[in-house]
Amino acid sequence: MKILVTGGTGYIGSHTVVELQQQGYEVVIIDNLCNSFEWVVDNIGKISGIRPGFERIDLCDKPALTDFFARHSDIGAVIHFAALKAVGESTEKPLYYYHNNLVSLMNLLELMTNNDVKHLVFSSSCTVYGQPLELPVTENTPVQESYCPYGTTKIVSENIIKDVCKISDLKAVALRYFNPIGAHESALIGELPLGVPNNLVPYITQTAVGKREVLSIYGNNYNTPDGTCIRDYIHVVDAAKAHITAIKHMISGVSKEKFEVFNIGTGNGNSVLEIVNTFMKVSGVNLEYRITGRRPGDVEKVWADTSKANRDLGWKAEKTLEDMLLSAWNWEQHTAILNHE
Ligand code: NAD
Ligand code: UFG
Repeated sequence: MKILVTGGTGYIGSHTVVELQQQGYEVVIIDNLCNSFEWVVDNIGKISGIRPGFERIDLCDKPALTDFFARHSDIGAVIHFAALKAVGESTEKPLYYYHNNLVSLMNLLELMTNNDVKHLVFSSSCTVYGQPLELPVTENTPVQESYCPYGTTKIVSENIIKDVCKISDLKAVALRYFNPIGAHESALIGELPLGVPNNLVPYITQTAVGKREVLSIYGNNYNTPDGTCIRDYIHVVDAAKAHITAIKHMISGVSKEKFEVFNIGTGNGNSVLEIVNTFMKVSGVNLEYRITGRRPGDVEKVWADTSKANRDLGWKAEKTLEDMLLSAWNWEQHTAILNHE
């Protein structure tokens, strides 16, 4: 089967393309390269032995997307990663985020339904839960109003997809990722943050490699055992594998649900200090860090109940925190050598 992967040169998309190819799927990527590089396509090919199809298209460009679907009449499913994802930037440029993330989705849904493509996996986020009252969060935990336009695009996107499923043959799965980190064991693909990283692990690895002076830990007075925030960090390769199980789940027809949601995490919470200490242990680097004030908008603690994905998708995260941080460190050292622009 041929799978269209939008955003397939990006961080989670590139790892998913590798897993799809290793399971025998043919892949064609659409990406406009606003947050990734075309050489990723070559590196995917180096890992899997097959260079995936690639077309540089902006999903907001409906004529270009229409032309793409006319030329690829054999697509059986779409995995839709393409989106802008920087929380802070979304607050500064809300219209840019709403336009990019929602127009691209609506164009895609229209062309999928017009071309009889019936299966969609959508990249959602645990950000839709905000700060839940009870932990761990299940898929039934209420979705909360988002504090940033990025999070709102995820909530609205899920609703748009659900509505289209109701009136068409479309079946869809939304995967709510917790915190994907790490990189492929080959160190040929990984996360490539542009400019100063916002996220914890790229900031840690860039500090360790000497690109940043010191890591700021945003607050140690939260109501957690060591006072720092807790997240459910998941290896990006484990997250990538969940997409293949989601495609198989939809196509097998075992579930009669048209739209389903799954939490994609490990089920374990780790604090910022635990991440820092584990990183120092696996890398052998003594990381410079200081405690600073809280970052506005941060939730105190969140981790997943993954039993629905474990049971219905037959999927479970396998890699340890040590695996995640060591692979992130190997990738950082590799990119420092490559010094890609
Ligand atoms: P990424 O930025 O590395 O990848 C997204 C890709 O989409 C990029 O290659 C970018 O160039 C492309 N893109 C963006 N807008 C496009 C458009 N209009 N047309 C074509 N291509 C476009 O991000 P990622 O970390 O791989 O995230 C993938 C998805 O998962 C996103 O939807 C993101 O919101 C979601 N998500 C990510 C995380 C995380 O921590 N990384 C957590 C939860 C959810
Ligand atoms: N943190 C620091 N110092 C840093 C960066 C982060 O202490 O330099 C802390 C944060 O305060 C937070 C934790 O590390 O407590 C994790 O922060 P990240 O920015 O790595 O991740 P978030 O949980 O804030 O957000 C990420 C993505 C969002 C997504 C969310 C849920 O950036 O896009 O996960 O999936 F919505």
